[in-house]
Amino acid sequence: MYLKDAGFSTKSIHIRHRLPSDIKTIVTPIYQTSTFLFNSVEEGAELFAGKKEGYIYTRLGNPTQTVLEDKIAILEEGEAALATASGMAAIATTIFTLCRTGDHIVADETLYGCTHTLFSHILTERLGIEVTFIDASDLNNLKAAIRGNTKLIYFETPANPTLKLIDIRGCVEVAKKWGIKVVVDNTFMTPYLQNPLKLGVDVVVHSATKYLCGHGDTIAGVIIGDKEFIKRARLEVLKDTGGIISPFNSLFILRGLTTLALRMEKHCENAMAVAQLLEGHPKIEKVIYPGLPSHRQHQLAKEQARGFGGMVTFVVKGGLESAIKLMNSVQLCVLAVSLGNVETLIEHPATMTHAHVSEEERLAAGITDGLIRLSLGIEDLKDIIRDLEQALEKC
Ligand SMILES: Cc1ncc(COP(=O)(O)O)c(C=O)c1O
Repeated sequence: MYLKDAGFSTKSIHIRHRLPSDIKTIVTPIYQTSTFLFNSVEEGAELFAGKKEGYIYTRLGNPTQTVLEDKIAILEEGEAALATASGMAAIATTIFTLCRTGDHIVADETLYGCTHTLFSHILTERLGIEVTFIDASDLNNLKAAIRGNTKLIYFETPANPTLKLIDIRGCVEVAKKWGIKVVVDNTFMTPYLQNPLKLGVDVVVHSATKYLCGHGDTIAGVIIGDKEFIKRARLEVLKDTGGIISPFNSLFILRGLTTLALRMEKHCENAMAVAQLLEGHPKIEKVIYPGLPSHRQHQLAKEQARGFGGMVTFVVKGGLESAIKLMNSVQLCVLAVSLGNVETLIEHPATMTHAHVSEEERLAAGITDGLIRLSLGIEDLKDIIRDLEQALEKC
């Protein structure tokens, strides 16, 4: 009860498992089992019929997973959650729960590369779900794209990798008029910085692989929404498509959550300082960071989130050639995709995370060849700066 009004960090640490056992552990046990024992045939039948709550088989749910789901639902301020094998499994499960053949989706044009491919190829070419990509930062584009069969609006804010923001409240207002669901990928912000459900969004998805895990050692995803939707996602889709989280990975994400607030503070602090440094640097053409007054949606960033995040995107002068030289010259920053790790990661969206998006669509979304994405880690700031400065000298 005392946790009801507790702060984010306190909740992320003290919301503990209430699993039935005489042995009271501080850390959630890993229930490393594929299946569960029934006390009788009658009990098994009741569990299958949904007349009794309990565990049947880990693809349908597992006690370690339940603890993660309960905790993330509280932190994201939603009713319920479903943990999945990856962020992509969370996104696909959400779409399959909300849409069927003949439906239409309006999606922002700047999305993580595999999400873009899921929408532009798998949904459209194989499943007969139409997708219209728009620049959703202009609500007029959104209004113009809506049709009679539009079932959902989907976006990331900030978007990967251009850090464009989308007005969550504005999109929700448009969607509600037409009875359309809004789904937001909140990976970049985390529930520590932004709660789209509180702004009226229906479903939030995360790649838990990133900040929620924090240490780069687990692939996982989560979906948060109302109880009815989560039940449908679990029993109508995930049960039969199979992208469930493992008990072991559930514990890794639970552990990551306990330090999320602390890490996010440091990620944000480092990102702001690096963005300011790069903005004044003679070798840099452009820096995009929602925390900089030069970001065209700086005001919106202040209004809809409690911080600006740990991601910084920038363009070096000299285009692709200089970008390659810079990325090959870093010594502390790690040349790798993914984000939200304790290490600072540097990557090149055009040839890496967004390589499978067509050149035309990439450029329309602002992902030019000279664009570099930095995920600031939690190292000492002076060391990150020293590394970037020495790499910039070489390009
Ligand atoms: C914003 C965003 N959403 C979803 C995903 C997919 O997550 P996962 O790699 O856990 O499947 C990623 C991966 O980079 C991402 O950046």
